[in-house]
Amino acid sequence: MLDKDEISSELSLDDFIVIRDFIHEKCGIFFAENKKYLLENRLIKRMSTLGLKSFRDYFYQVKYDTSLKEFNMLMNLVTTNETSFYRNPPQLQCFQEEVLPQILESKRRAGKKRLRIWSAGCSTGEEPYTISMIILDVLGENHGWNIEIVANDISENVLQAARKAQYTEMALRTTPSTIIKKYFKEENHKYAVLDSVKRQVNFSHLNLADRRRMALMNEVDFVFCRNVMIYFSDDIKRQIVRGFYNSLLPGGYMFIGHAESLHGISKAFKLEYFRNGLVYHKEVGAALADNEPASMPVACATTPAGVTVAATAPAAASTVSRSAETHAATMEKLKKIQELLAGSRKRNS
Ligand SMILES: C[S@@+](CC[C@H](N)C(=O)[O-])C[C@H]1O[C@@H](n2cnc3c(N)ncnc32)[C@H](O)[C@@H]1O
Repeated sequence: MLDKDEISSELSLDDFIVIRDFIHEKCGIFFAENKKYLLENRLIKRMSTLGLKSFRDYFYQVKYDTSLKEFNMLMNLVTTNETSFYRNPPQLQCFQEEVLPQILESKRRAGKKRLRIWSAGCSTGEEPYTISMIILDVLGENHGWNIEIVANDISENVLQAARKAQYTEMALRTTPSTIIKKYFKEENHKYAVLDSVKRQVNFSHLNLADRRRMALMNEVDFVFCRNVMIYFSDDIKRQIVRGFYNSLLPGGYMFIGHAESLHGISKAFKLEYFRNGLVYHKEVGAALADNEPASMPVACATTPAGVTVAATAPAAASTVSRSAETHAATMEKLKKIQELLAGSRKRNS
């Protein structure tokens, strides 16, 4: 451990740019030049613990540590994890009273009692647990639905706290007292989330800037990515929003922070107006996000009349998200084309 005075505490502009660009490339978080002091302050304590005297030495340690331990430490340092239960109540009211019932109803009608909700950038767990409480409030305890709330974050520290599910009063500052009584067990001013709430939530590590991992998320009904993208550059926002769009089922919804907007980021979503707020919607029958190839033919045939017909599958980026139903529909289409062709061959012979 070094004293702060033993470290060359001034982060030069050159070193700042090298470290800043590395962070941006790896996780999307972007420090503008006027935030140099912030990065400096966040790194200096870690450098002292590691006994490193210069920012350049620290950068090499992060870059060449193949175990990724130091990279993960850096992610803990550069992320902002501010959150609380029932954050932005009007938006959650919109989810609970308007958007969620609509999706539940359409699923009931289709006979599919299954919901997948994604809390992307979940921090210490308050957001996904809030969603879980809302679902229990709407459906009741023994609801018989298959509910999966997938919660992830790039910071291992926050995920550890999220799994522990123990909170102070501070985390409950915007939570109605009825909810506190119903879903928490209080002991010595610590509030533990009940098992029924925890059961519906799965935490895992995910870097939203990792396209490959993002493409593995599929058949999502709702994305919550609130107060996460404000720290990203526009390019990374575009990439991530495209990922969310492709992960959502047609008809699915995306909630972002109240100070955030997709203006200049994506035209694929439609903004839908509800009594309690505005929500981004992937319309039913929607195709892939902009900049994605629309679809790839899996079978083509030309009828005797010279018309080319094709059965198509979703493009490569979303092939993983192709459901068994989509596949069945494609096969059904193919069968019809083959019958059509056989019929007209018969007539021509
Ligand atoms: C300000 S918190 C927001 C928490 C919660 N969504 C809310 O609105 O209360 C932002 C979270 O996004 C996470 N985050 C930042 N960059 C990320 C990335 N590239 N991948 C995954 N999570 C990231 C941070 O670690 C942090 O916990």
